[in-house]
Amino acid sequence: MFSLTLDCAPAEHDQLLADLYECGTAGIVEEEVPGAGLRLRAFFDDNGARDALTARFAAHAPFCRDEEDIDWMAGWRDSWQPTPVGEKFFLVPVWSGVPTPAGRWRLEVDPGMAFGTGSHATTQLCLEALERYLRPGDTVFDLGTGSGILARGAALAGAGRIYACDIDADSAAVAHRAYQQRVAVFAGSLRSVRKASVDLMLANINAETLSSLAAELAGALREGGRVIVSGFPPRNQERVTRAFAKAGLHALEAQEKDGWVGMAFSLTAPKR
Ligand SMILES: C[S@@+](CC[C@H](N)C(=O)[O-])C[C@H]1O[C@@H](n2cnc3c(N)ncnc32)[C@H](O)[C@@H]1O
Repeated sequence: MFSLTLDCAPAEHDQLLADLYECGTAGIVEEEVPGAGLRLRAFFDDNGARDALTARFAAHAPFCRDEEDIDWMAGWRDSWQPTPVGEKFFLVPVWSGVPTPAGRWRLEVDPGMAFGTGSHATTQLCLEALERYLRPGDTVFDLGTGSGILARGAALAGAGRIYACDIDADSAAVAHRAYQQRVAVFAGSLRSVRKASVDLMLANINAETLSSLAAELAGALREGGRVIVSGFPPRNQERVTRAFAKAGLHALEAQEKDGWVGMAFSLTAPKR
């Protein structure tokens, strides 16, 4: 195993994270460098990939270092505790025998190969917003489903039809297994979604992708439709809000958790 250290400006952070995950990193550690932006240390198992990764990220002062092998999955298993999220959800690892507290919905998670164990603040912000904005019977679309956790949360919260997709085919396959027919999952993105067919859209991605998809997101919504988004830090909130406003989406609320933002939008202007 080796680590690849990269420097970046705050504005490049989200895209760089997405690129590193696309390149198959096993995990990333973030550090602030006073006066010099951010430093990301990404771990990779395949020592043969050093040269290609160094070349790909040449613009970010790449630096490679040998590292002891880290079993990320074992660390995750040891540290994972059942977690209540919002008013209703109770997140537990699949191997846990801890009983569900009365009145909560048990949402079992398995890290598999995809993002979405529920331990990340962005996932929790989306689940919390789901409790407030999902109406029973809603047709829900989970864009960038990862492990499928938000779609399964929507099922527990009383959604009607549920669709989900991910541009990462491995994630789509993990999600498909997790849903066991309850949700229609496909590898791909918003282009394949029929116009005006969704009541509630869930999208925990990043500011750049969300902003570029704003018009398509809005177009997929039925009248009165809502969108729950997360995946970006407070410094990008204004950018997402502006892109969504341009697409006719009105901000309903913004919440913050551990340095991340979760927002809800509606096609209908809220009554003041
Ligand atoms: C941060 S993870 C969120 C996973 C899960 N929904 C959650 O909330 O924990 C973002 C996911 O979005 C997917 N993704 C990124 N851009 C996308 C796009 N344009 N269309 C569909 N999926 C996308 C990634 O592959 C990744 O699985």
